[in-house]
Amino acid sequence: MHNVSERELQMPPAVIEKLLKYVSERKDIISLGPGEPDFPAPKPVVEHARKIAGMCNHYSPPGGRKDLKEALLKKLGKDNGIKCSEDNIVVTAGSQEALLLAIAATHDATEQLIVPEPGFLAYTPTAEMLDAVPVPLRLEAGEDFQINPDRLKKLITKKTQALMINTPSNPTGAVMKKKLLEEIADIAVENDIYIFSDEAYERIIYGGKHVSIGSLNGMHEHVVSFFTFSKTYAMCGYRLGYCTAPADVASAIRKMHVYTSICAPTISQMLGLKALSLPRRHVDSMVKEYKRRRDYIVKRLNGMGLPTKMPGGAFYTFSDISGHSKNSSRFSQSLLKKRKVAVIPGTEFGPAGEGFIRCSYATKLPLIKKACDRVEKFLGKL
Ligand SMILES: Cc1ncc(COP(=O)(O)O)c(C=O)c1O
Repeated sequence: MHNVSERELQMPPAVIEKLLKYVSERKDIISLGPGEPDFPAPKPVVEHARKIAGMCNHYSPPGGRKDLKEALLKKLGKDNGIKCSEDNIVVTAGSQEALLLAIAATHDATEQLIVPEPGFLAYTPTAEMLDAVPVPLRLEAGEDFQINPDRLKKLITKKTQALMINTPSNPTGAVMKKKLLEEIADIAVENDIYIFSDEAYERIIYGGKHVSIGSLNGMHEHVVSFFTFSKTYAMCGYRLGYCTAPADVASAIRKMHVYTSICAPTISQMLGLKALSLPRRHVDSMVKEYKRRRDYIVKRLNGMGLPTKMPGGAFYTFSDISGHSKNSSRFSQSLLKKRKVAVIPGTEFGPAGEGFIRCSYATKLPLIKKACDRVEKFLGKL
């Protein structure tokens, strides 16, 4: 065996990656696992890709193409209420790269990043990869998976550099309201820590309003906000994201970006510009369909005895299986083996996810219906 670093050895195995690969190779399995839209990218984006394929062989400026950044400034002002300048934006290869670079740019070894748990599965390993220390902030089902400000305050130490928030949330679908964001903003200012605001699902929201914490009064000096084209425009494979940050932090992120990917793919940046120019109906129609699926799956899961909160955003349900099993990993494996339905065990999102499973409804409705019938049979309810 070749030598690999201690850092790599310490990283948790990517169970989801293996599971999704296995599932994609088996036609008899219905997957409620995907973390990406099942829709194609908008047609005008795909058509534009054909047109510009011969024009994108050069690197872009490391922080992003000027035309894209100008369009992002307009979008950030209009949709997010974030007023900033080009110096505050860094365009990256997906928002995951921006997350990594932001931690690298602000955390020295042993400094702490508070992460929501259950939370997006990349937060903890990304912090650990950089020798920062992730500190889990437990989110309780009984509190609608919202951050409890008192519990948050108790976790802040001299070593805390930042708090990660994610609204709408992967995996719980919870959406944070303005009042809570204001409370969290006050805590961050009082303690002089950054807020890292992951807004990957900003447009996939059902009825409620997405509020960017970076839009709150005076918060531009404290917040790094992360956005992506992956979910809004079903453009995961294009690898295009961006963040906004105080100018000196953005500059540090940009510097590190040069030594990781140099620039986000030029073709993707040109296509991102195209996506931003599209009428809202392209995204709205996807959201409408997600909502139809959400309403169906939540009703079915609750009906079969898996308590499931109505997600306010993203495309996941997070169901309580504790009445059936104490072990979400074993439950998911058994469901896969016996009834050929793939779901993600809650523990993939941190130990606080024990007793839950995540189902994605980025899957066609007839398949969701079939999967629900199978899960119901598995629970012995049919
Ligand atoms: C909450 C959240 N943040 C960030 C990402 C990373 O997305 P990307 O790197 O494609 O922009 C994902 C992907 O699933 C996610 O669910």
